[in-house]
Amino acid sequence: MANRVWVLGSAVVDFVSTIDRFPAPGESRIAKSVERFLGGKGVNQAVAAARSGADVSFVGALGLDDAASDFRVLLAEEGIDSSEVQTVLDAGTGQATILVNEDAENMIAIYPGANMMMGASALSHLEIDEGDVVVASLEIPQECILTAFDLAKSRGAMTVLNPAPACELEPMIFALTDVFTPNDTESKFYQESQKVDPGKFTAYIHTQGSGGVTLHHKHEQIKIPAPKIEAVDPTGAGDCFNGVLAASLAKGMELEASVRRAIRAASISVTRPGAVPSMPNSEEYDG
Ligand code: RIB
Repeated sequence: MANRVWVLGSAVVDFVSTIDRFPAPGESRIAKSVERFLGGKGVNQAVAAARSGADVSFVGALGLDDAASDFRVLLAEEGIDSSEVQTVLDAGTGQATILVNEDAENMIAIYPGANMMMGASALSHLEIDEGDVVVASLEIPQECILTAFDLAKSRGAMTVLNPAPACELEPMIFALTDVFTPNDTESKFYQESQKVDPGKFTAYIHTQGSGGVTLHHKHEQIKIPAPKIEAVDPTGAGDCFNGVLAASLAKGMELEASVRRAIRAASISVTRPGAVPSMPNSEEYDG
């Protein structure tokens, strides 16, 4: 039986406006379009992993609203197990305001809502098995990550932390993380503010957008370039990378091959608008 990918993370409805350039503080600008997409780092990663062929469980929190129904339909359509999704009564499903400019750069403001009310106690019962991969990001309470990662390590599963958005982390989370995947901003933040040493993880994967990835592994640094593409919208590219990375590791692929596969997938995702809709299928980047 294939190993399972457990994605712990957010579900967020993204309202994406395309605009010629970002407004300056105090300035209003007319957007060219506005669209509503399903997203959130957790859901994006889960969809990317499922479309790469993995068995996936999404562990997150939704409100009791129309957006929550949309997410449940999406997860079912993608074949993602949602039995561990929590319903929160005191807050709505998360929302984000996203601007994408003509240079295919984005700015995101997230209102986490239900995501930050996810409870940790239910996570101590997750049926994580040896060889599974548990991937988490930071739009949910850190206590949830601690509980799930602690369980994962006790069961012989691998843990992947996508430390986004950058924030002060409980030191124990670093200790329970096998694979750490910061982007440029996050790598600088964690090395400066929390003195994170790339050598302490099984792998430290520094993603650099169109600049590719620097993989720190066994005291070596390997630079892996990204394919040249025509970028449209970078939203969710990092999530695509993390989802496909986790799926590839769960499948038993070697670390470097997994990183190369994840880069190919993420490069495709930036050629399409939105987060969930931009996640490619494995046929698009395998073979
Ligand atoms: O990483 C992109 C995601 O971050 C968006 O889908 C948005 O919802 C935010 O969570």
